[in-house]
Amino acid sequence: HDVKTAEVIVLKDGEAVAQHMAHWLLEQALAKKDGPFVISLSGGTTPKRLFQILAEPDIAARFPWSNTQIFYGDERYVPTSDPASNYTMSRETLLDHVSLPLANVHPMPTDADPETDAARYQKELQAVYGANELQPGKPLFDVVMLGMGPDGHTASLFPRQPVLKERTKWVATCTPDNAPHTRLTLTYPAIHSSRHVVFLLEGAGKAEMLARVRKGDDSLPSCHITSEGDVTFLIDEAAAQDL
Ligand code: 6PG
Repeated sequence: HDVKTAEVIVLKDGEAVAQHMAHWLLEQALAKKDGPFVISLSGGTTPKRLFQILAEPDIAARFPWSNTQIFYGDERYVPTSDPASNYTMSRETLLDHVSLPLANVHPMPTDADPETDAARYQKELQAVYGANELQPGKPLFDVVMLGMGPDGHTASLFPRQPVLKERTKWVATCTPDNAPHTRLTLTYPAIHSSRHVVFLLEGAGKAEMLARVRKGDDSLPSCHITSEGDVTFLIDEAAAQDL
């Protein structure tokens, strides 16, 4: 599936979106019986409330953490002590509060150099996947969560960057124009190898970009996201206003 055929679920506000996603993730995780539940978390500010809900006792106590493997869709190439670290945000809001084995959490490494660390992260994914090549019908991820930036980027797939052409690597680097940090990001083929891709979008600031993505504006990286499973937009009413 792709972003044009994706299902769009519109809920009242950001809180409703976060609650829906938390309960849906719990269901998906509980339903996973034939191997680990492998999820890629998105960065940015949008998932913060979702992470807090997942850490609340009624969900956290039922979530099968020991069968869950947590990866990240992208990361700014900064030390984990930097407030811009996606991993650190997820740790403070979620990981520190639940009984998730340390070995099941896979932050993107940012302590060698970007190319080396991208390759290291791909190896870490390959170890969990159990193969070095992606195979159709054997999704790498159960769920890939994504956000969307004001320029139509998703994960760290930014407009006009060479990473958009990457067809082999699972993880690559991207240095957006005028951005303070190089990023590590999952590539299109890695995201495609998934059962579910879910874009979480909220607020009027996302409305115009989402409308352009749904109309198929090819210049926007989000437009080229596909999954061998399904693609869903889980959004609030404000983000839906231009659809
Ligand atoms: C992601 C990225 C990034 C982010 C957007 C939106 O994982 O998809 O971290 O693309 O989601 O930049 O950020 P906000 O949620 O802060 O609007």
